[in-house]
Amino acid sequence: MLHLKNRWDKIELLFDRGIAMNTIFEAGDNSDAIKMASEILNNNGLVAFPTETVYGLGGNALSKDAAAKIYAAKGRPSDNPLIVHIADTEDVYKLAKNVPEKARMLMEAFWPGPLTIILPKNEIIPDGTTGGLPTVAIRMPSHPIALSLIRESGVYIAAPSANTSGRPSPTNAKHVLEDMDGRIDMILDGGDVGIGIESTIVDLTSAIPTILRPGFITKKMLENIVGEVAIDRAIVEPDPSLRPKAPGMKYTHYAPKGELSVVECIEDVVIQTDASGQDKYQHAKDSCRNVASERVVARINELVHEAKAKGKKVAVIATEETKDMYDCEYVFVAGSRAKGETIAARLYAILRECDYVGADYIYSEAFKDNELGGAIMNRLMKAAGQRVIKV
Ligand code: TXA
Ligand code: MG
Repeated sequence: MLHLKNRWDKIELLFDRGIAMNTIFEAGDNSDAIKMASEILNNNGLVAFPTETVYGLGGNALSKDAAAKIYAAKGRPSDNPLIVHIADTEDVYKLAKNVPEKARMLMEAFWPGPLTIILPKNEIIPDGTTGGLPTVAIRMPSHPIALSLIRESGVYIAAPSANTSGRPSPTNAKHVLEDMDGRIDMILDGGDVGIGIESTIVDLTSAIPTILRPGFITKKMLENIVGEVAIDRAIVEPDPSLRPKAPGMKYTHYAPKGELSVVECIEDVVIQTDASGQDKYQHAKDSCRNVASERVVARINELVHEAKAKGKKVAVIATEETKDMYDCEYVFVAGSRAKGETIAARLYAILRECDYVGADYIYSEAFKDNELGGAIMNRLMKAAGQRVIKV
């Protein structure tokens, strides 16, 4: 086995030799770094690696020791189960007790890619990996480094997002290092991820597939393949009496250190809560689409002035369309309002950037008016501890 006493020195050595960083990507399956990472996984160590959604903190999914190390490194409650990452569809049949037809259809349509499916688990998966649940979350990522690592190591990789519990998920290796330095054995650096928010989780243990966590694969995309799809009500209604089916969804998450509030215009949306939680946000007026209302901008500017008057540092999370309208030193541009994928890709990095500048208060526009609005607002509202200012 590889003894990595001073692991960071070892990685630096790889950097010096031009092997790590983005070149891992080009080096493919046989790169030294992937080999080293595989050895670590086979010895129950922990390796952070890029996926197309966020960076994962990987360990051997069949080892309860590795699972225990993951929980310790993240400071994560051990009732919060881990996703098992695979590189070959056939492996689902080894990990799950039965695989319903709808699961097969979704796997075929979206794997490899940002979709996690929940199925009844087989005995080979230790309870430590699934937080004692009788089900298991499985996903086949599409990132070439993730796939190479799973194949080269021959290990099913249990991997939560590689942040410490409660912090924004990491979208590049520097974020991982901030949270995990000294706690894990290795980071594979694949540069910035493409998607930026975690995979969509779909529970296939009920007759109607149910979204437990919204993500890049939208309800509409799933319905195009399997017909009716439900949403776990606990996701769309931040009502503490509703217990989300994905244990991780109940925790405050993604939070920056400053106090984040979301400012939204009540006239922009009418809230429609039908039984399935569908079409919860509907725009009252077409004219409100793709613009943050003037009232939102005006209110955020007021809040910025109030905070500055108290001697506090303030940051604003805005969009390409509104960035020049704020009277604030730190304006972070999430992306373009109508293009949800640009906002998803930057959101977590921005929450960390608010920390870098030491913002005491952070005011963010709401980003509901795009296809990924549900997934983005789910993360943003959790980061804000559901703090919302309506104008
Ligand atoms: O995109 C992603 O899914 C990333 C990358 C690394 O693959 N992973 C990720 O893992 O976001 P994590 O641990 O941060 O979030 C996993 C979520 C948690 O909310 C957890 O409660 C839920 O999945 N989960 C895992 N197994 C489950 C199960 N058997 N039943 C219900 N929810 C489950
Ligand atoms: Mg996470």
